[in-house]
Amino acid sequence: MKLWTGRFQKELDQTTNDFNSSISFDSRMFEEDIEGSIAHATMLGQCGVIEPSEAEAICRGLEEIRSEIKEGKLEIDPEQEDIHTFVEGELTQRLGSAGKRLHTARSRNDQVALDIRLYLKKQADSLIEQIKGLLKVLCKQAKENAGVVMPGYTHLQRAQPITFGHHLMAYAEMLLRDVGRLEDAKKRMDANPLGSGALASTTYGIDREITTRLLGFSSTTQNSLDGVSDRDFCMELCSALSIVMVHLSRFSEEMILWCSWEFKFVELDDAFSTGSSIMPQKKNPDIAELVRGKAGRVFGDLTTLLTVMKGLPLAYNKDMQEDKEAIFDAVDTVRMCLTAFTPMLDTMKVLPENMRKAAAGGFINATDCADYLVKKGLPFRDAYKATGTLVARCLELGLTLETLPMEEYKAVCDVFDQGVYEAISLEKCVDDRKVLGGPARENVLEQVTRVEALIQ
Ligand code: ARG
Repeated sequence: MKLWTGRFQKELDQTTNDFNSSISFDSRMFEEDIEGSIAHATMLGQCGVIEPSEAEAICRGLEEIRSEIKEGKLEIDPEQEDIHTFVEGELTQRLGSAGKRLHTARSRNDQVALDIRLYLKKQADSLIEQIKGLLKVLCKQAKENAGVVMPGYTHLQRAQPITFGHHLMAYAEMLLRDVGRLEDAKKRMDANPLGSGALASTTYGIDREITTRLLGFSSTTQNSLDGVSDRDFCMELCSALSIVMVHLSRFSEEMILWCSWEFKFVELDDAFSTGSSIMPQKKNPDIAELVRGKAGRVFGDLTTLLTVMKGLPLAYNKDMQEDKEAIFDAVDTVRMCLTAFTPMLDTMKVLPENMRKAAAGGFINATDCADYLVKKGLPFRDAYKATGTLVARCLELGLTLETLPMEEYKAVCDVFDQGVYEAISLEKCVDDRKVLGGPARENVLEQVTRVEALIQ
C-alpha cells in the first residue's frame, strides 16, 4: 500500500516501484528510524498535538516492531518504498488510527535527514574506535622497533638513515589527524533536522528542542529548508574517509614493497597473506593490495555524493536518495579495510638485518659525512662537494664510505681524520637525530608515549 493514496487512481508500476524504492539499502537504518519516531511521538504527546495515551501506544508499538526486527521475527517488506514507509505502515496495521497519527507534523524528508545523521554519527564513532585500534598496534610495533635502523627514502631512492619505529610513527600522526577529521565531521552532523517538515516546518505547536534532547543531538538545525536539503555532512564524512584511505593505501603500498624480495624488510603472517594457484613459491600481500585498491572505491563514493548534490535546487529532490548507497559503501569499505589491515600489521614479522643491510648501501650517511666536515669548520657547500667526490670515488672502487681508506679521504680534503668513521656509522647517524620529531630511538619512544596518551 502506498502512502499517497487519495490523489492516485492506480498502483505504481512494478518495475518503476523497484526503481523508485530505497528499502533494499535504507533498511539498515531501521533502528534510527524507530528511535526518531519514538522521539517524535513523545514530543507530539508532550506538546498536546496528539493525546498522550496515543503517544504512549505509538511508542510501545514502535518498540515492539524494533525488537521483532532485531530478533528476526518481523521481516522488512522489500516491496515497500523505504524504511520510513515500512515502519509507519507496520505500526498502522498494528494500532489502527493511533498509528496514523505518527506522521503528524513530519515528512519523510526530515525523517530521512534525521535517520542518516543518527546512523552516521554512530558509524563515525565506531570508525574512530577502529582507527584507535590501528594506532595501538602501530605504537606496539614502533616501540619494538624503535632502534631498528633502516634507510629512509625520497624519490624511492635511499636518502638518510631512520628507524623503522620512526617510519611507523609517521603513519600514526596521519591517523591521529584522521581521527580529528572524523570528530569534526561528527560535530557538524550533530544537529537535529526533525521539525523541518517537508521543507517549510509546520503550523503545529511542536517543540523541536524536545526531540533534540531525546535524540541526544547537541544542537537543532536553524532553517527548515537547509535541514532537509543538505547532505554536506555525508560529503564531509566521505572526504575524511577518503583521506583515511589515502593514508591506508600509502601504508599498503609500502607493505607491498617491504614484502618483496627486493626489500624483504618484513614478512606477513601466513594468516594474512595468500598463495598463488600456479606458482608454489608465492606469498602475496593481497590484503594490502586490496586496501590500496579500495581507496579508489571510496574516492568514487565521494565523487558520487558531490556530483549528486551539485546543482540541486532547494529543498528535497529524489536525487538525494542516491546519497545513501555512496556513503554507506564508503563507511563499510573503510571498516573492512581497517578490520583486515590492523591484525595484518600486528602479526607482521620485522626483519631488522635486512633493513640494516639496505641501510648500509646507497650512501645514506653521505649527509652525515658532509656534516662532519661542517662541524670541523668547513662551509656546508664545500663539505657537500667534497663528500660528493668521495661518493664518486667509492663507486669507482666498489667501496662504501665506511670501507673507504683514510688516504682516499685525505686526498679529497685533509681535514678528515679517523673520527669520520664514527661520525658516519649508521647507528650514530640515527642516534644523533634527536631533534623533536626525529628518528632517534628515544624520540620514537617519546612519540609513542604521546600517541598512546592521546588515544586513551
Ligand atoms: N526514500 C527517500 C530517500 O531516501 C526518502 C523519502 C522522501 N521521498 C520523497 N519522495 N519525499 O531520500
